[in-house]
Amino acid sequence: MQAIPGYDFGRVPDAPISDGEFELLKRTVMLTDEDFKYLRTACGILKDQIDAILDLWYGWVGSNPHLVYYFGDKAGRPIPEYLDAVRKRFGQWILDTTCRDYDREWLNYVYEIGLRHHKSKKGRTDNVDTVEHIPLRYMIAFIAPIGLTIKPFLAKKGHSAEDVERMWSAWLKSVVLQAAIWARPYSKEGEW
Ligand code: HEM
Repeated sequence: MQAIPGYDFGRVPDAPISDGEFELLKRTVMLTDEDFKYLRTACGILKDQIDAILDLWYGWVGSNPHLVYYFGDKAGRPIPEYLDAVRKRFGQWILDTTCRDYDREWLNYVYEIGLRHHKSKKGRTDNVDTVEHIPLRYMIAFIAPIGLTIKPFLAKKGHSAEDVERMWSAWLKSVVLQAAIWARPYSKEGEW
């Protein structure tokens, strides 16, 4: 398999989040062993639908000028190679969210993804001269489209309605968990 440019899972510094904080956050979004079982099933279901999911999400971002703006340069022109590079890593994120253990390595890369949306690192990975920062309000608001639109894809492989519901709620919990981690660089010291 070809390496994904800029995908640095396993090669990023430790997140400034303790194991204890991580555990309590998982507990707060109600992620249980049962959810991880359903995420693993979702992994098998989603892995050959990545392109279709990304087509939907990118189509939606592309049709919202206030969102596609963040994939552009400071004059407001989209940067196609930036959109493409991020798309590959976004596909991998779907797999990292469903197929991987949520251990220290996972936490570290999730935190890195937060930095990449924030002015501390946005645009650095792909070396592009882009808008410098994505506002926190959109990071939180995005939980709705990313959380909700996955459901039809989970239902595509003939699983029972109950299994689809369980996979969907595990997915939603994970997206909320990750958005909470992404809020860390957006918070002043001591506020997160
Ligand atoms: C629940 C919320 C969100 C999720 C799950 C998400 C997911 C991702 C993922 C997985 C990546 C690639 C990470 C990597 O480099 O490995 C990424 C990067 C990116 N996302 Fe998001 N994102 C969210 C919110 C947003 C919002 C609101 C915008 C603004 C329209 C946005 C725009 C971008 C951009 C521009 C990048 C590239 C950042 C860079 O320069 O490295 N994302 N996102």
